[in-house]
Amino acid sequence: MKTQVAIVGAGPAGLLLGHLLRAEGIDVVIVERASADYVLGRIRAGVLERTTIDLMDRLGLGARMHAEGLLHDGFHLADGERLIRIDIAALTGRQVMVYGQTEVTRDLMAAAPERGLTVIYEAADVALHDVASDRPYLTFEKDGALHRIDADFLCGCDGFHGPSRRAIPASASASFEKIYPFGWLGILADVAPCHHELIYANHDRGFALASMRSESRSRYYVQVSLEEKVEDWPDERLWDELAVRLGPEAAAHMTRGPALEKSIVPLRSFVSEPMRHGRLLLAGDSAHIVPPTGAKGLNLAASDVHYLAEALSAYFLRHDAGKVAAYSDLALARVWKAERFSWQLTRLMHRFPDGDAFDRRMQLAELDYIASSRAAQASIAENYVGLPL
Ligand code: FAD
Ligand code: DHB
Repeated sequence: MKTQVAIVGAGPAGLLLGHLLRAEGIDVVIVERASADYVLGRIRAGVLERTTIDLMDRLGLGARMHAEGLLHDGFHLADGERLIRIDIAALTGRQVMVYGQTEVTRDLMAAAPERGLTVIYEAADVALHDVASDRPYLTFEKDGALHRIDADFLCGCDGFHGPSRRAIPASASASFEKIYPFGWLGILADVAPCHHELIYANHDRGFALASMRSESRSRYYVQVSLEEKVEDWPDERLWDELAVRLGPEAAAHMTRGPALEKSIVPLRSFVSEPMRHGRLLLAGDSAHIVPPTGAKGLNLAASDVHYLAEALSAYFLRHDAGKVAAYSDLALARVWKAERFSWQLTRLMHRFPDGDAFDRRMQLAELDYIASSRAAQASIAENYVGLPL
């Protein structure tokens, strides 16, 4: 098989990129290791920046998002007692959309056939070849047969554990990493949210987040140690802990219910540079990871593919290779700013096992400063809604 762009991975980065390229008439094939059902079964991001909303709209795929998503004007930071509201609409003139990654993925998947976007699910042993040459190709196994796709470019949208980043020789790349000494335990439940906006709480016992998927579906997280297992957290223990950490106002309005899903994710900051090697271009979690505290991961994947689609369109439609050459620097400039924001918010809102009483006072002083300073709130708000492309 031959195509112009072969994409590895049909998560949000791969599907969005595929659609953006198809909208320009460029031929694309996506190969995905998992089944479509498996991809849709992963519960992940919940908050979309304006830039991500705009991309869905540009593709003409935003109708369900606007009908079912919840536009939020603000969110809260909590310090165990009070809620500090960050009024993002007043401070930035923008809003964010609460609409799950699962739903974004479902909308992109559903529109693929009618737009000529080929997605090959359950492709095993995907391997990238000759990425530094002008004739790169992919191989994979499907239904017991070995397949080959020749392409002008390969795009690695296969997440942190995929093979694309590893196809770049170590001598040609550098990586930067911080692993945090805790994880997030998440619970999804069909109960009304405890508040109409998100609450990020820093309590003496650790971080907690109150989020949602709709007016009748809630998503909550608590910071847990890396030794803890989901089995250590029966639903009642988790609800009790959330009620304490989120503070009295949230607890008073919290409805408990059985978990539809419960899982633990580790927290990591990671960047691999550059995001291009020859004819291989990386986008999304394959090139970088942020801790989830700033809700930036999915949105960074979307901004990467915005730049990448522009670069590949310039190459194929205008024979201009300059934007492909510039892609990595352009994407990384935005990536590092989102890394900084996510790292800073993670440090501010979590209890670090090696943190002492001084560190705790610094966190509380910073939260108190944020509560009293419009300038501090404006800085948080402009990062939360997403820096300009
Ligand atoms: P992925 O979604 O990981 O997709 C990669 C795809 O590649 C997958 O479908 C995978 O199956 C496929 N793949 C992997 N290996 C291979 C292979 N060998 N061959 C073929 N295909 C392969 N981000 C936000 O913006 N806001 C949030 O609120 C937020 N909350 C989060 C909460 C949690 C609990 C977690 C875990 C993440 C959260 N994120 C959030 C991060 C966000 O989910 C990711 O950044 C986003 O999924 C990145 O998209 P991606 O397409 O780059 O990677
Ligand atoms: C959700 C996840 C996040 O990491 C975040 O910052 C906000 C919301 C969520 O899953 O709803």
